[in-house]
Amino acid sequence: MKLIRSIAEMHSLCRTARSRGARLGLVPTMGALHEGHLSLVTTARKKSDLVAATIFVNPTQFGPTEDFARYPRALENDCALLEREGVELVFAPSVEEMYPQGAVTWVVVEGLSERLCGKSRPGHFRGVTTVVAKLFHIVEPDVAFFGQKDAAQVAIIRHMVRDLNMPVAIDVCPIVREPDGLAISSRNAYLSPQERKSALVLYRWLMRVQKLFQSGERNSANLVATAKREFAAEPTVRPDYVEVVDPGTLEPETAVTKRVLVAVAAVVGQTRLIDNILLEP
Ligand code: PAJ
Repeated sequence: MKLIRSIAEMHSLCRTARSRGARLGLVPTMGALHEGHLSLVTTARKKSDLVAATIFVNPTQFGPTEDFARYPRALENDCALLEREGVELVFAPSVEEMYPQGAVTWVVVEGLSERLCGKSRPGHFRGVTTVVAKLFHIVEPDVAFFGQKDAAQVAIIRHMVRDLNMPVAIDVCPIVREPDGLAISSRNAYLSPQERKSALVLYRWLMRVQKLFQSGERNSANLVATAKREFAAEPTVRPDYVEVVDPGTLEPETAVTKRVLVAVAAVVGQTRLIDNILLEP
């Protein structure tokens, strides 16, 4: 495994690998790696000849009052994990390398970027699409791997790739959960033992929605209405949104007549968590 800090070196190594005919897979991350990230790496290993992972805590996707400064950083441990998983290239640039003085160009997927998390995190998805576009240009992967955990991110990146004719396939991997159902996230490390218990309400609610759906309920308002009671039992958890939307456009759906995304975000203490399920009639 090789750790690369410079854009020029990463670009040249990736170019060389592809010119030899290797199918190049990219797994973009912000580090502090866990089983969720590693599932993307495992899939990438199966579906590509050479895997590049990136570790970059991207400042432009954090709001001014968000957790950029205290976001967990664990480069040494991350590299050990990636080496064990058989990743060939690890790109971990500095902020100055990725955003040189005077950088003023953004990639914005309009409309979609203001939905779900974009509503309460203005500018978040602009930061995501800008950094992912930059990584695509640096690595030029044949395929890039993302987690269903960030369902809105997936929809927005797919849209960007389509609109800008980026020559990369997007592969989406299922959500990896703790044994009790909590979606694994780097931010779970912020939770106190009490908050960790309360955080399960997100998954509990999604399971309740799934059950109702399986027993025939198709009305989105009725499905969403069950959140009130579920969240009332956890007064330290403040729901941000609970929505039934089209997984491609993120537009609200009033009924489950086709595949829909049920998405939830909530703040547990100081920690913002998200989760989702897909329902397929
Ligand atoms: P990060 O939160 O580090 O996540 C990196 C990738 O891992 C994302 O595609 C995310 O959806 C996936 N992932 C995280 N937890 C997961 C879980 N429990 N199960 C399955 N996949 C999971 O997402 C980002 O970083 C950034 O926005 C990034 C795309 C790297 C751009 O900065």
